[in-house]
Amino acid sequence: MRILLGITGGIAAYKAAEVARLLTRQGHAVRCVLTEAGARFITPLTLASLTGQPVFGANPDLGEWRANPVVEHIDLARWADLVAVAPATADILGKTANGLATDLLSTLLLATRAPVLWAPAMNTAMWSHPAVRANVARLKSFGHSLIEPVEGLLACGEEGGGKLAEVEAIVDAILALGSPRHPALEGKKVLVTAGPTREDLDPVRTLTNRSTGAMGIEMARALRNAGAEVHLVLGGDGPAFPLYGLAPTRVRSAAEMLAACEKLWPAMDGLVAAAAVADQRPETCSAEKVKKGEGPERLTLVRTPDILATLSDAKRPGQWLLGFAAESEGHLENAAAKLTRKRLDAILANDVADGQGFGDQANTLTPVTAEGPQPALGPLPKDELAQAAVAWWAHRLAALSPSQP
Ligand SMILES: Cc1cc2nc3c(=O)[nH]c(=O)nc-3n(C[C@H](O)[C@H](O)[C@H](O)COP(=O)(O)O)c2cc1C
Repeated sequence: MRILLGITGGIAAYKAAEVARLLTRQGHAVRCVLTEAGARFITPLTLASLTGQPVFGANPDLGEWRANPVVEHIDLARWADLVAVAPATADILGKTANGLATDLLSTLLLATRAPVLWAPAMNTAMWSHPAVRANVARLKSFGHSLIEPVEGLLACGEEGGGKLAEVEAIVDAILALGSPRHPALEGKKVLVTAGPTREDLDPVRTLTNRSTGAMGIEMARALRNAGAEVHLVLGGDGPAFPLYGLAPTRVRSAAEMLAACEKLWPAMDGLVAAAAVADQRPETCSAEKVKKGEGPERLTLVRTPDILATLSDAKRPGQWLLGFAAESEGHLENAAAKLTRKRLDAILANDVADGQGFGDQANTLTPVTAEGPQPALGPLPKDELAQAAVAWWAHRLAALSPSQP
């Protein structure tokens, strides 16, 4: 992906270097455009060194952009798959909202046909000023996207809204808006389940498993980046994480996950079931903490509902189901059996012998279909593995229904 990163004159400009670095590390081409004020906060040399790309702007070190023989503002505007401005000052928001083109960045913001993402950062009073609110509303009406500033301690010493969104959240939003779409997934509604479920024994004790939800969350991200409208139902108590344009439904137990999924499923085109759902729960859950010595020596467990089988039974024509199978032995045979038993369209088999495959570790997935095991994907970090799995599934969907747009 080719990203044009506009950097304007605010203290948060130093964080743009990290945005540029993270995107470059993921293999994207990042070209930075500095405003004159932006170049007072961060040097072109830092940005050029981090991106390996030329840096543009009206800066004494770079020469006046208008003197360049190349029609830079048009060339750059055409080059970009996405234009992001981070941090965006009140000044650049106002200029673009009103069609002003007084320097390279503001000019190319008018000249580009690529999606535009704003990451504003400014003092709380500035951010809440009616003029800024009106400019933001105007930019949104042009189809531009905005990643809201967050609340926090600002460089001016005030506490409040207007702080630049987290770097990881900006990177996530850039990928959400600028990644290439896949025709088989674009506009499709996909339900993704992720994370562990928790089956409580009392208010403090619970039965759960080692899933962190990382793989399912990365699947949701990769599907969203491919253009799908993702609905994520997430188990576990993990911390909040950036997922632009997507508000996960948090659930606790298998029963809660089933209820959330059953509500969503009729309107969906497909399901990616990556959650590690408990197969059993304690027969009873005490309302009060069970005292040491009072608890039973043996737990009576009962089966939880089978979410995948339930949704498979309720499947209407055209809906597809993609499952995951984490197995510590015979993972391909077990995955094939689950594929048939739950009438899935494909299953991604995950060998979790010796604790591998949990958390941040690199992992390998083997797709299994009615034709048998397919070439393995990985080992790769989970974000790249999810992209590979989504690409594999999108190609298979396209091959299964070539008439799809
Ligand atoms: C130390 C300092 C910090 C500033 N921080 C911000 C800021 O965070 N947000 C903002 O909108 N303006 C900020 N300004 C004001 C802008 O730099 C000023 O409006 C400038 O003209 C913006 O130009 P640009 O939009 O072309 O980069 C700051 C100014 C100074 C001197």
